Amino acid sequence: MGVVGMSSGCTLAYTEAASARQGLRKGAVLPFSNRAGLPYSGLGQVDTEVAGRMAVREGTLRPAMGDRYRPPADSSPGAAKRKFVMKSSLIRRFVRGKRRKHRRVAPPEGYDRWAVTYDSQPDNAVLALESRLFSELLVRIVIEGKGVLDIGCGTGRHWPEIMSWRPARLTGVDPSSGMLQRLKVRYPNAETFCSAGDRLAEMAAGSFDVIVSTLALAHIPDASIAIREWHRILKATGSMLITDFHPDAIRSGMKRTFIAQGETIEIEHHVTEINQLQNIARKCGLTVSFISERSIDDSVRPLFERDLALREYDKYKGLRLVFGMVFTKT
Ligand SMILES: C[S@@+](CC[C@H](N)C(=O)[O-])C[C@H]1O[C@@H](n2cnc3c(N)ncnc32)[C@H](O)[C@@H]1O
Repeated sequence: MGVVGMSSGCTLAYTEAASARQGLRKGAVLPFSNRAGLPYSGLGQVDTEVAGRMAVREGTLRPAMGDRYRPPADSSPGAAKRKFVMKSSLIRRFVRGKRRKHRRVAPPEGYDRWAVTYDSQPDNAVLALESRLFSELLVRIVIEGKGVLDIGCGTGRHWPEIMSWRPARLTGVDPSSGMLQRLKVRYPNAETFCSAGDRLAEMAAGSFDVIVSTLALAHIPDASIAIREWHRILKATGSMLITDFHPDAIRSGMKRTFIAQGETIEIEHHVTEINQLQNIARKCGLTVSFISERSIDDSVRPLFERDLALREYDKYKGLRLVFGMVFTKT
């Protein structure tokens, strides 16, 4: 955990306080938890699978308030021995923290583990900023009466909003069966395919009017293969809406990690620059009709404030966290 015990009911954060304090050294992986928003997954639940979130490599975050407490000097008999025992246990903790395994996993494995808590992220600034961006983009597309395909749909976070525009059909694709299971809890009759977004051979050319993909493209190793495939599936004059983590955020060190059973698990992702994406789209025959970005700004300050992380807010304010694009098939 990063800064610990910050929000009420933050049980997991609190239980991992010790490792967080140790993690405040340069080079440590500090999950961004419910701060800057990287998918934070329900700190209210005592479940070590939960700490799903992106992380920053950071060496300057301040320790939790508790670390400032210094007990009075102990001059009683045996104090020196006790002090030594205490010190060596601190060293053990330090070494344990340092040796915590860091494992990089493929997205389906990562999201299968994350799925249970993915929808419990009320303080996640990435999701907050992305949700607003998504609404801004969605109004530029005609959804009513159309066939919509959501690639990397996850738990169907955007489905209530998409459905409010009354599509004729809404289909989801995701390689994580765990995420799709969560979606099915809410939408038992949903049409879904458990598949990677760049391998959709079972879908006929020109079979959807609209393709939506949010916060998923960077998990696909080669964005150009995915965009070409999506272009194939799209009907003529169809629309494509994509959002994702901003390359600037990834460059600044943010990673998609979570902590499970003492391991830091990082979900593989890849950077594609925005101008590269535009070029890929143009080469496929897509016209870029709208681009927008969202940075860490005052609208998410309360999330940092609630987490007593205003120093991080000041540090990252202005960092572009998410971007979104709308394309039209010409
Ligand atoms: C951050 S979640 C986003 C989920 C949902 N779209 C949302 O906005 O909440 C990323 C999703 O991308 C999915 N994903 C990972 N690799 C993928 C791939 N190769 N093709 C399509 N989706 C993928 C994951 O399983 C996960 O559900």
